[in-house]
Amino acid sequence: MDSIWIQGGQRLEGRIPISGAKNAALTLIPCALLTEEPLTLGNLPRLADVDSFGHLMNELGVGTQVAGKKAGEIKRRITYTADDITSTVAPYELVRKMRASILVLGPMLARMGEATVSLPGGCAIGDRPIDLHLKALEAMGAEIELAQGYVKATAPKGKLPGGDYEFPVVSVGATENAVMAAVLTSGVTNLFNSAREPEIVDLCNCLVAMGARMEGIGTSHLQITGVEALHGADYDVMPDRIEAGSYACAAGITHGSIELVGARAADMLATTNALAATGMLTEFTNDGIKVTASEPLRPLAISTAPYPGFATDMQAQFMAMMTLANGDSYLEETIFENRYMHVPELRRMGADIDTRGRSAIVHGVEKLTGAEVMATDLRASMSLVLAGLAAEGETEVLRVYHLDRGYERLEEKLAGVGATIERRSK
Ligand code: EPZ
Repeated sequence: MDSIWIQGGQRLEGRIPISGAKNAALTLIPCALLTEEPLTLGNLPRLADVDSFGHLMNELGVGTQVAGKKAGEIKRRITYTADDITSTVAPYELVRKMRASILVLGPMLARMGEATVSLPGGCAIGDRPIDLHLKALEAMGAEIELAQGYVKATAPKGKLPGGDYEFPVVSVGATENAVMAAVLTSGVTNLFNSAREPEIVDLCNCLVAMGARMEGIGTSHLQITGVEALHGADYDVMPDRIEAGSYACAAGITHGSIELVGARAADMLATTNALAATGMLTEFTNDGIKVTASEPLRPLAISTAPYPGFATDMQAQFMAMMTLANGDSYLEETIFENRYMHVPELRRMGADIDTRGRSAIVHGVEKLTGAEVMATDLRASMSLVLAGLAAEGETEVLRVYHLDRGYERLEEKLAGVGATIERRSK
């Protein structure tokens, strides 16, 4: 089991290339199920979750092959071809490893008229039910049955008629499943209170490139008119706004200056506004976003919210940065019920944090000290890496498989801006 070892104290300076977005890739890959023609995705990040999704697609009979690189291309391109779907069942042993597997439900139902997917179960940050996914599909005409830990969705007469649904709470995954199910119906589907994350805009843009018809992209009301069939496409995944925000926090916590090359400013205004509120300088350059920290950072009051609010996936990283701010910061996690798993580990490094339910107060301290710490979930792991970069002494983050799910070449990218960091095999 690998670990990440860090000698803290370096001020980080330089440029970090931002990879394709994990959370966009995981909803774009299942789009291949919607057509028998090849779907080629470019700028795919080299991440465990992307590889796991490829294995799931293979399990369903989808061909996957590394596509030829465009001239000068260094980013990964993979072609997914679902011209011969041999199974409509996503098995437990694959789904339990990656809950995003539930995103094959909608497209498989749309293409094949039926889909059986293992219920994903909860995870470290919360119960994470899929009731809204199922209610949206039912509103579009699907019959849903739950048995032996699986959900089976069926389209009577083999094709969904479509229908209207208003989400009671904003759900990224439920919106994605509903959109992918709606593009091949025989009617029109209106989705209200849809999630508006940039990853969903990326999904809609890819589907339109494949021949889908939809209005309201980027808004909370999506109107999708079903078409007879979709065709293949060649589509590049958007840059990862959460990876970019995470490395911006690395600049903040080390009082450094990092240019996030390829970051798309329009996707992350809530993050850049929060960075500016700490006193950091954010400059929009021709290549991306340059963030520079003065000493010391001002404290913040942050409440996570669906896009365009402050992203829950940025909460742990900002908390790490605020442990060294000049005063008390206030955080509220409104999306998930258990997303403070990083707090006990940050405390072991000397952070002074009080939590009560979904609220946290971070009392700024003079310094953190390195320690051996345990990662529990993806973004919590990154918050421990960030703390290690600023701590006095050595930090070793265990269970880095969490990090490998969402951060491509993490130690290489951080070493490239001056961090003393290495991956060790335990
Ligand atoms: C996506 O998860 C992301 N994952 C998460 O990123 C992200 O934190 C989350 O959206 C919120 O932005 C991927 O895109 C692969 P939700 P998702 O449905 O779709 C409740 C990361 O670190 N809910 O928007 O599962 C749910 O419990 C990961 O990259 C229901 O009640 O999130 C939560 O409280 C972590 N019923 C809230 O809605 C449902 O049917 C938002 O969840 C679905 C969700």
